[in-house]
Amino acid sequence: MVSSVKGTFDLFYPEVEKWQTIEENARKIFHLFGYTEIRTPILEHTELFVRSVGSETDIVSKEMYTFVDKKGRSLTLRPENTAPAMRSVIEHRLYELPKNQRLYYIGPQFRYERPQKGRYRQFHQIGIELINDRTPYAEFEGIIVAKELLNSLGIGQIKVKLNSVGCPECRPHYVEILRKYLLDREKELCLDCQKRISLNPLRVLDCKVPSCQKIIEEAPTIGSHLCVLCEDHLQKLREYLEESDLFYELDQRLVRGLDYYVKNVFEITSPLLGAQDAVLGGGRYDGLLKSLGGPDLPSFGWALGVERLSLIAQFGEKEKKDVYIAWLGEKGFKVALKLGFLLRGNNIPAILEGEERSLKNSLKRADKLGVNIVVIIGEDEIKGGLLTLKNLKSGEQFAVSLNEVPVFILNGLRS
Ligand code: HAM
Repeated sequence: MVSSVKGTFDLFYPEVEKWQTIEENARKIFHLFGYTEIRTPILEHTELFVRSVGSETDIVSKEMYTFVDKKGRSLTLRPENTAPAMRSVIEHRLYELPKNQRLYYIGPQFRYERPQKGRYRQFHQIGIELINDRTPYAEFEGIIVAKELLNSLGIGQIKVKLNSVGCPECRPHYVEILRKYLLDREKELCLDCQKRISLNPLRVLDCKVPSCQKIIEEAPTIGSHLCVLCEDHLQKLREYLEESDLFYELDQRLVRGLDYYVKNVFEITSPLLGAQDAVLGGGRYDGLLKSLGGPDLPSFGWALGVERLSLIAQFGEKEKKDVYIAWLGEKGFKVALKLGFLLRGNNIPAILEGEERSLKNSLKRADKLGVNIVVIIGEDEIKGGLLTLKNLKSGEQFAVSLNEVPVFILNGLRS
């Protein structure tokens, strides 16, 4: 037997229905906020991620599925969707169309990470990107969109971790201060972090190696080194959040694992998730479009992990109106066929099978299929002209004519 690839999984009933609910809710809420969908290819030129996510990030330096194609081009299975979305925005000049300035995506991403609960090599993100908005309201609204989605899935109390990572004006100064501090404690850091000191010291703050944690905790924070613009931008967002019912916490060590961020970044975590507790993360990335050869348009976005979300979401029981059509004899089968079309034409899911079964076996089969209502078309029904509807939950039975069956079901088994 050939099994699935490590860190990937198959999705099927009943779990797949949870994913469908998450996706339906997301689409509905994004639509309410004016977002339209973008679908980009899973394959991109490797250079796209090197130039956007950053060559010194874990994602690019260790985790990408990169290969050379038959023509010698270096291609990568996308590890995230912001860079591909921005590539598309530039390629098709989507920034010229207001309807394409609020984008959302739903799809698989690939990172070669060590698999564990909530962490996979093929995982799925739902995300939004808002182009051409420099106001802190962009972040506030983006966080509200996330909150609406999480609330719609029964996740009530959410905690937003917030920080500013500065901008090209103020960050370099802070990076130098951080570098000096890290150099003093170099020997206590893991080998990766020792390399990061010269290449990209901010990435040390992301390190999960236990021995680095104390040094990270005691490291100088960016807060007191922000320029006036970054400071104001953060304060304004905090004001918006304080006026809302959202609970947030300033976390000065939050730097996010991607290099394109500037100013405000945030994450939403859940204590129910254990080690991989970030459900959703994002931030502002004002310079990204320009650095990829597009116009200089400030932008913001976030993405959530569907696997992690489905672990903490609450899914209510949906009222089911599915029908199993039980039939006997050739005449019974003909009526069953008609009923099948009639029910589906009225948006009532109906299962009809070609194999003739005894009534007892049909009822057993319906039960195993998780269907609530069985319509019986046996000899008596054919003779009398009324079909028997059986509610499997309550055991109640009703005699209804063929044409009235859909209305009877839609009325909750009432005429
Ligand atoms: P990210 O923080 O790398 O950000 O990923 C966003 C979310 O994807 C995480 O919070 C987590 O729920 C999920 N995730 C990441 N890696 C894995 C994995 N290996 N297995 C399962 N879930 C995972 C980004 O990707 C940015 N593009 C977000 C963004 C959009 N920033 C601006 N716009």
